[in-house]
Amino acid sequence: MIEDSLGKALLSTESIRRKVREIGAKISRDYAGKEPVLVGVLNGALVFMADLMREIDLPLEAYMMAASSYDGYESTGTVDIVKPLNASITARDVILVEDIVDTGITLACLLESLQAEKPASLEVCALLDKKSCRQVEVPIKYIGFEIPDEFVVGYGLDYNQQYRNLPYVASMNAAVANGTR
Ligand code: IMP
Repeated sequence: MIEDSLGKALLSTESIRRKVREIGAKISRDYAGKEPVLVGVLNGALVFMADLMREIDLPLEAYMMAASSYDGYESTGTVDIVKPLNASITARDVILVEDIVDTGITLACLLESLQAEKPASLEVCALLDKKSCRQVEVPIKYIGFEIPDEFVVGYGLDYNQQYRNLPYVASMNAAVANGTR
């Protein structure tokens, strides 16, 4: 079973659902009268983005872009934009949707690239925040959950491309972390 190699569930399906609903309602209030552009970061934010956009009661546009910085557990420290945003965001109200912010390096790079397009506003919405791991200060307006420094999978987050389909968020267990999986 998919759960066998995982540690405890850190965030249940229900608590994630509640939080996504809450964030969606907040964005709907904050952007009332506007037509925000949501930019999700592939592949990790795929599931969060799909759920979040359906909780926002506003006309909106949704796009995905892709950056790559991780190899297994370790951040490589360099960020490649492997799929750029193919849309104009100039003078638009943009919300960048991330699965998790760890060092902040990926987010800082993405923000710089989006800011160059001169949006009217640019905010960040991240489901998970590993605040204690931050190396670069990044502004996050909407945060789902602050979590400890543990490698987590599920709800879009992967370990070597596995576990994205898990409906909740779990910590990887020690056996997997030691490479015995
Ligand atoms: P940062 O650049 O260190 O902030 O890393 C951000 C990216 O690394 C996220 O978008 C994820 O794709 C990945 N990442 C960071 N921590 C985890 C984790 O615990 N599990 C899965 N992916 C992670």
